[in-house]
Amino acid sequence: MRKQIAAANWKMNLNQQEAKDLLTNILDKLPKLTDNQQVVFSIPAIYLSNAVQQIGGISNVFVAAQNCHQNSNGAFTGEISAPMYSSVGVNHIVIGHSERREYFAESDVLLAEKVNAVLANNSTPIFCCGEPLAIREAGTQNAFVETQLINSLFHLTPEQLLKVVIAYEPIWAIGTGKTASSAQAQEIHAFIRSVLATKYGADIADQISILYGGSVKAANAVELFSQPDVDGGLVGGASLIATEFTAIINALQ
Ligand code: PGA
Repeated sequence: MRKQIAAANWKMNLNQQEAKDLLTNILDKLPKLTDNQQVVFSIPAIYLSNAVQQIGGISNVFVAAQNCHQNSNGAFTGEISAPMYSSVGVNHIVIGHSERREYFAESDVLLAEKVNAVLANNSTPIFCCGEPLAIREAGTQNAFVETQLINSLFHLTPEQLLKVVIAYEPIWAIGTGKTASSAQAQEIHAFIRSVLATKYGADIADQISILYGGSVKAANAVELFSQPDVDGGLVGGASLIATEFTAIINALQ
């Protein structure tokens, strides 16, 4: 059975005390997770070590970096590598969030290198894909997302792909309050799974968790997560509110 995952994406928000308090409030109310449920906190790099300490090894609860460099070390001032993250207990890394693609010009080719770097380090990439509004309006979102997957993931072996979590995040739904309907989410998640199946076979495609992201909140999480190909969510704004994110965790199937 594939993992159902509630992933918080704090982005560049909160100071140290606020980060600590938010995590405390969520952990206090954390339900007992089943073997196939996971909670991941993708938080600013500077708070990751503290968060690892705070979580203290609760099973199925992880922290994630929001990005990493494609090299493991070297003269790259200001950057942080996957091995550095794992040395402080961080073994999940979000790769290719649309904000990084847009504001930091991260290309499919670069993201393929970053996925490789994460996997080479035995960590889990949470690979983001998703189309902008103009592509959705033109009705070509499937081809757009398929190209992102082909360019950044299809060089992987089946064993490597099995370690990847995919997050489908339509850019027009991120931070806009405009959620994809559960039917729209299901349709493209099923499409993504079919694309994976074409290359890797249905058995492998069936095991890959595909999260939905884009204005997930307590009020829509149950409906979204109940779709057969939606395996949880990557949650921005609502993950900054303890009661909201707790409800989203409780919505996991
Ligand atoms: P949002 O962000 O939930 O605020 O729309 C999601 C994301 O960017 O991961």
